[in-house]
Amino acid sequence: MMIQRPFSKRSQAIPAFKAMAILAKASQMALNGRDIIHLEVGQPDFPVAQAIRMAGIEAIRAGQTGYSDANGLPALRAQISEHYRRVYGLEIEERRIILTAGASGALALVVALLTDPGDGWLLTDPGYPSNRRFIEAFSGIAQSCVVGPEDRFQFSASTVSEAWQPNTVSLLLASPGNPTGTSLSRSVLKDLAKVVEEKNGFLVSDEIYQGLEYGPTKRVSALSVTNDAFVVNSFSKYFGMTGWRLGWVVAPDGAEAPLIRLAQNLTICPSVPAQYAALSAFEPSVLAQLDTQCDILAERRDLMLSNITETGLQVPVVPDGAFYLYAKLPEHFGSADDYCTRLLDQEGVAITPGTDFGDHDAQRYVRISYAQPRAVLEQALERMERFKS
Ligand SMILES: Cc1ncc(COP(=O)(O)O)c(C=O)c1O
Repeated sequence: MMIQRPFSKRSQAIPAFKAMAILAKASQMALNGRDIIHLEVGQPDFPVAQAIRMAGIEAIRAGQTGYSDANGLPALRAQISEHYRRVYGLEIEERRIILTAGASGALALVVALLTDPGDGWLLTDPGYPSNRRFIEAFSGIAQSCVVGPEDRFQFSASTVSEAWQPNTVSLLLASPGNPTGTSLSRSVLKDLAKVVEEKNGFLVSDEIYQGLEYGPTKRVSALSVTNDAFVVNSFSKYFGMTGWRLGWVVAPDGAEAPLIRLAQNLTICPSVPAQYAALSAFEPSVLAQLDTQCDILAERRDLMLSNITETGLQVPVVPDGAFYLYAKLPEHFGSADDYCTRLLDQEGVAITPGTDFGDHDAQRYVRISYAQPRAVLEQALERMERFKS
């Protein structure tokens, strides 16, 4: 018998994550024999470094599969602290680092810590769609701020000042961002931190794409302008460990204990084999491999940028990080939802409509992930050009 009682209204209000829904449809088409090019999902195509995989296998062989402390293995927190010292020139004590189930787990903990019912969070439109869901899951209110090409699709101090409401408690930014791949400069970050301090609010900075950066702005953490930021990061993107489900939060002084209390209750601890695997992620040979991969992504970005106009699309702001193009459709291409559906059905190219990332102008934009080998991207561009005509 099917359950008769309806599920919660809150859960019913959550729409599908379109990129994941498109991935499911595209994968089904591939199973049915179609030749599909996946440019919809936000996942690096490089295999996880051998040393990381071997360390994971070794941990499982050695039976390192019980719970860890809720904030993770001390040895891994020490390595992350060392990473901040070496790469960012920042002193972040291990006690402030809390390992989580990906940036998703980190965002859930931070939102749970900072949100009372009715509290507002400023988010960019366009922006990463799940942020809004975390906020709503904890009875907060997502307060979208339209950001456009003039601000490189990022917050400015004036946007934040104007958008801040009496019930606003937090500013959530992402640099580089998804879906646009654009970064905040140090000076804008500083201005944002100042506005948030004046408003007596919380600053939360999602830095999951740091390390995958192609412009002059590299590794600029909110922690370099304020010690009071909550910083979210992950092994998913730069380290390429999406499916291992491991990330972290850097907590401001005094916030670590309440975050750990939440983590103990909500997740107990992040995956322990993944934590042992990640201990190898900071080996010099792995970091060298990751930097080479970053150079390859930069070349792919350039390939896409120099050929995208042939497809009829236009990229209003050159992305300087992540692995996405946020591209604009000409009016006569129809809506983004329709364009993406037809492109997948007719040409087998899966991309994500702008409607996944916000409301403003969303039917005029699509997100293309270029985390695919060059030959695949060339094929995709060819198919998109053919589709235009
Ligand atoms: C901006 C941003 N934040 C957070 C996440 C969640 O990442 P994960 O939970 O895999 O670390 C993603 C995933 O695409 C993202 O793009």
